[in-house]
Amino acid sequence: MPADRDVLLSARDLHKAYQLGRVDVSVLRGASLEVGRGEFLAVMGRSGSGKSTLLHVIGALDPPDRGSVTLDGQDVFRMPPRGRERIRNRDIGFVFQFYHLLPELNLLENVLVPGMVGRSLTAWVRQRRGLRRKAIELLEKLGLEHRLQHRPRELSGGERQRVAIARALLNEPRLLLADEPTGNLDRASGKAILDHLVELNDGGQTIVMVTHDADVAALAHRCVHLKEGQVTSRHDPRDAERPVQSVSRR
Ligand SMILES: Nc1ncnc2c1ncn2[C@@H]1O[C@H](COP(=O)(O)OP(=O)(O)O)[C@@H](O)[C@H]1O
Ligand SMILES: [Mg+2]
Repeated sequence: MPADRDVLLSARDLHKAYQLGRVDVSVLRGASLEVGRGEFLAVMGRSGSGKSTLLHVIGALDPPDRGSVTLDGQDVFRMPPRGRERIRNRDIGFVFQFYHLLPELNLLENVLVPGMVGRSLTAWVRQRRGLRRKAIELLEKLGLEHRLQHRPRELSGGERQRVAIARALLNEPRLLLADEPTGNLDRASGKAILDHLVELNDGGQTIVMVTHDADVAALAHRCVHLKEGQVTSRHDPRDAERPVQSVSRR
């Protein structure tokens, strides 16, 4: 566990259930988690164990039934909705397994979406040029500078995911959350995405990545498991086909 002053995110005793017809499916049952500033944390767990649910809750996308999430000491579900929206938009970047790009927008426009959301029209007009420059810079860094005007459908899966990473980084979030970012990619494209995440983390970006793949999790500094609605740091060999080889890549 990171020392107190280095904690960026702290999730405590999260509970969450979904109602399916008359049945309550209890997904999170007292899950707690701390993420240190600058840390690259992997969250593993079987399909259906609640990894995406946990990520949505710590990313302030979805409230828990019980428990708290604090980012830099701010309790995100105890603040007015506007404050929470601001945190979600400015301080947290999301990368999803299926990219979630807007098909009618080109790459540059897709990356600029978080720059428009949550800004007033005047602020957007004032900051547009700077944000555009930043978006181009990010796309260059991710090797897509020659595709700015292309639509997502003209790209491979790996390229789409790189656009999604650029979009997630536009507002320079304190925390980057990635939900099975390589889950839909072939090995080579997946490796390129992971190399980018490692490089970002080396530059100081805090990352929480959900994966069910032990080889992918091995790139993180630390790996925790979600099982029966709780987060454990102990490795249970039955949770993965292969044990996690290493929690350190340095
Ligand atoms: N919006 C929802 N409504 C009802 N059930 C859901 C919803 N989202 C997830 N679930 C259920 O919660 C459980 C955990 O899902 P999820 O968090 O997506 O797991 P994972 O990402 O580990 O595969 C699953 O049983 C899933 O069917
Ligand atoms: Mg999932």
